[in-house]
Amino acid sequence: MKLITVLAPLIATGAALSIQTPLLAVDDKLAVPGNNTLYFCSDPSNYTLNVTRIDFDPRSPKKGETLHVETQGILRHPIVDGAKVQLTVKLQIGSALIPVYHQTIDVCEGEDDECPIKKGSITLTKDVELPGAIPNGKYAVNIDAKNGDDEESELLCLNTVLTFG
Ligand SMILES: *[C@@H]1O[C@H](CO)[C@@H](O)[C@H](O)[C@H]1NC(C)=O
Ligand SMILES: *[C@@H]1O[C@H](CO)[C@@H](O)[C@H](O)[C@H]1NC(C)=O
Ligand SMILES: *[C@@H]1O[C@H](CO)[C@@H](O)[C@H](O)[C@H]1NC(C)=O
Repeated sequence: MKLITVLAPLIATGAALSIQTPLLAVDDKLAVPGNNTLYFCSDPSNYTLNVTRIDFDPRSPKKGETLHVETQGILRHPIVDGAKVQLTVKLQIGSALIPVYHQTIDVCEGEDDECPIKKGSITLTKDVELPGAIPNGKYAVNIDAKNGDDEESELLCLNTVLTFG
């Protein structure tokens, strides 16, 4: 299941050193439960995945180390073929946010990823290797997952800011 794998390509571009206060205006009510610095993009009440918590270990990832991510939640509906994650990374330069990386990930494509993924409790774990060489900067990260149904229902949408260097 690739929902969490979305962090990996980000790391491949040059990985997280520390995760700090978001650049984007955020509402504490949208803070994702658990030991992390993620925010929901909007009221998550109707997201297909009801996230009960996401834990980062360590909470502030370091160069050359492994970031362990554990996500727990409840799928309100099955995840069906066509589900996609859009990962967008923007670099802050002055007051501007410049897009530097974008990737679309097919959630159901890949050897271990059988869809539909049935509704109910789900736990996803992912170890992400953080390379030693990282371009310095402050990056706004958006992870937007939509289900493969006709309405392209919002599966999950998260924002965070990563500071490299
Ligand atoms: C999400 O799941 C938890 C645990 O079952 C539940 O308490 C909570 O009400 C659910 N949230 C929503 C918005 O459905
Ligand atoms: C969630 O869905 C219900 C039923 O469609 C709707 O009434 C409600 O406004 C939605 N909530 C949000 C936050 O979108
Ligand atoms: C968050 O995780 C770090 C290590 O991953 C741990 O040291 C810290 O105590 C945790 N904080 C909370 C509030 O659980």
